[in-house]
Amino acid sequence: MRLFEKNGHAIIWGDTIEALSSEIPDGSVDLIFADPPYNIGKNFNGRKDHWPSDEAYLSWCYEWLNLCIAKLKPHGSFYVMTATQNMPYFDIFLRKRLHILSRIVWAYDSSGVQARNYFGSLYEPILFCVKDKDNYTFNTDDILVAARTGATRKLIDYRKPIPTKYNTKKVPGNVWNIPRVRYRMDEYENHPTQKPTALLDRIVKASSNPGDLVLDPFSGTFTTSYVAQSLGRDSLGIEIEEEYVKVGLRRLAIQEHYNGEVLRREPKTYEQQDGPDQQHLAIFERHAQWNTTSHR
Ligand SMILES: C[S@@+](CC[C@H](N)C(=O)[O-])C[C@H]1O[C@@H](n2cnc3c(N)ncnc32)[C@H](O)[C@@H]1O
Repeated sequence: MRLFEKNGHAIIWGDTIEALSSEIPDGSVDLIFADPPYNIGKNFNGRKDHWPSDEAYLSWCYEWLNLCIAKLKPHGSFYVMTATQNMPYFDIFLRKRLHILSRIVWAYDSSGVQARNYFGSLYEPILFCVKDKDNYTFNTDDILVAARTGATRKLIDYRKPIPTKYNTKKVPGNVWNIPRVRYRMDEYENHPTQKPTALLDRIVKASSNPGDLVLDPFSGTFTTSYVAQSLGRDSLGIEIEEEYVKVGLRRLAIQEHYNGEVLRREPKTYEQQDGPDQQHLAIFERHAQWNTTSHR
């Protein structure tokens, strides 16, 4: 296990059960977002997301779920994802230990694999749970979205004693239409299941306050920590794969170098790769363009 830390943002490189057990005090975290391997055969930099049986996967999950619950403060919130087929087990397990306030559907436009002979999966479930249903953080005003009836259709409710305009804003429902991270997006990192910053933005804004501690026990590309940092929260991310830890060190600006390597985002296939030998003066590009257009 190895620890990295700067300005309120920490990364633990190691196994989450070991890290949760040995490095994080009980009752110390305000918000946890957990996006574990789903046991559906994804490849996390060579580490296969595959357990010998459903039972083996679930008993591993129950272990870290229990640890996450222990690490939450009494008013803390817990968001957790898994594959649609595993979520009923998580739901039954968690509702005996926490209060499940929302069963969220993260719906997206298209999946990587287009099903032809059955109805393809275009959503992933997220449970939103709290320890104390009478005392938890929920920043309504920070997550409001446009209410179609009031904002777009501008309707008036004539059933009221005095006709009243419908509200123009509302708290989002539990179906969240947020596009998946695409290769051409700025936020894209080389990881098979990177979550969009827009998804974490809503969760972190709703369920934590500036200065709170946000934990992600399966950080991947460190989306949670990155969003937490941009919103003035502290963050702690755990990840077992060194390649992804390097992404976190760079995204959170904890280190610029790692074992002598400069930490850079992998260039996209369509991006110019300027090395020291390929330097050029950009001013001539502009002039070349000006010359061709002016001679037309
Ligand atoms: C579904 S991905 C998380 C993606 C992340 N939410 C993001 O936005 O990039 C799960 C991550 O858990 C990591 N992982 C798998 N087993 C782990 C373990 N035992 N301890 C810590 N991390 C683990 C994988 O390497 C993978 O990056």
